[in-house]
Amino acid sequence: MKRPKVTIIGAGNVGATAAHWALSRNIADVVLLDVMEGIPQGKALDLLQAGPVDGFNRRVIGSNDYRDSVDSDVVIITAGLARKPGMSRDDLLAKNVEIVKSCAEQAVKYSPNCVLIVVTNPIDAMVYTAFKISGLPRQRVIGMAGVLDSARYRAFLAEALGVAPRDVNALVMGIHGDNMLPLVRLANVGGVPVADLLDADTIAEIVKRTQHGGAEIVNHLKTGSAFYTPGLAAIEMAEAVLTDAKRVLPCAAWLEGEFGISGCFLGVPVVVGSAGVERIIEFPLTKEERAALAESETIVRDQMRATGL
Ligand code: LAC
Repeated sequence: MKRPKVTIIGAGNVGATAAHWALSRNIADVVLLDVMEGIPQGKALDLLQAGPVDGFNRRVIGSNDYRDSVDSDVVIITAGLARKPGMSRDDLLAKNVEIVKSCAEQAVKYSPNCVLIVVTNPIDAMVYTAFKISGLPRQRVIGMAGVLDSARYRAFLAEALGVAPRDVNALVMGIHGDNMLPLVRLANVGGVPVADLLDADTIAEIVKRTQHGGAEIVNHLKTGSAFYTPGLAAIEMAEAVLTDAKRVLPCAAWLEGEFGISGCFLGVPVVVGSAGVERIIEFPLTKEERAALAESETIVRDQMRATGL
């Protein structure tokens, strides 16, 4: 039987952390790829040596050569420049589109049957770039963002409620940017609506903090952006693909009529299994939610145009 294999392109903070989570969860052999000589090799060797202590039994190599990525089941693209304070995700667009184009091209050359997970910012435009360049069907090109944004939302709600984070269920839809849509109506703890447990001002503050969750971390770090949870979110998605788990995860998916939107990537609830995006879960939105999603759509369409693809 073929061993499950994940290639992570970009051995920076997000890529290396994703490799760490993938190994620690023992989900697949890992190839860590980067253009920088020595960095992926050094980090991979360091990770390999964690095996005896952590208990995982997976191969991990670092490489500068896409040939080592051959026959990957999942390829995760993290390569690109990260945000610095004062920089919006859009400032990165022009630079990262060239990087993601080359990653997507090389990824499918060696792994034509892979599921591509795109993490590079601005995610919605970069997943579009990978979709266009790879020629893969829409099921197999997914953007990471919803798992991260929903995790932030859930963590803040859990803190305010004084409950276990895993018992908070909440969904963030739309763009990975300031206009993302953390749904208040559907947020619940152990099935009980949070709107019945927290006052409206507290919830509004948490919604705002979630929308600016990335920038809050950039402002602390000063030299880069978040990586622990972004890396984990990508691996949560990869694991769902590798184990055909049919997990329901918020992901950026190419819409063809879902939620009344066509020809655009947006964060929506997705059933993730071995085929990638196996189904998009549609449900009725309120007028306000529809309007908020339409705002996300407008911005993502602008970003998609800006890629020139
Ligand atoms: C963040 C970056 C990954 O939200 O966009 O932290």
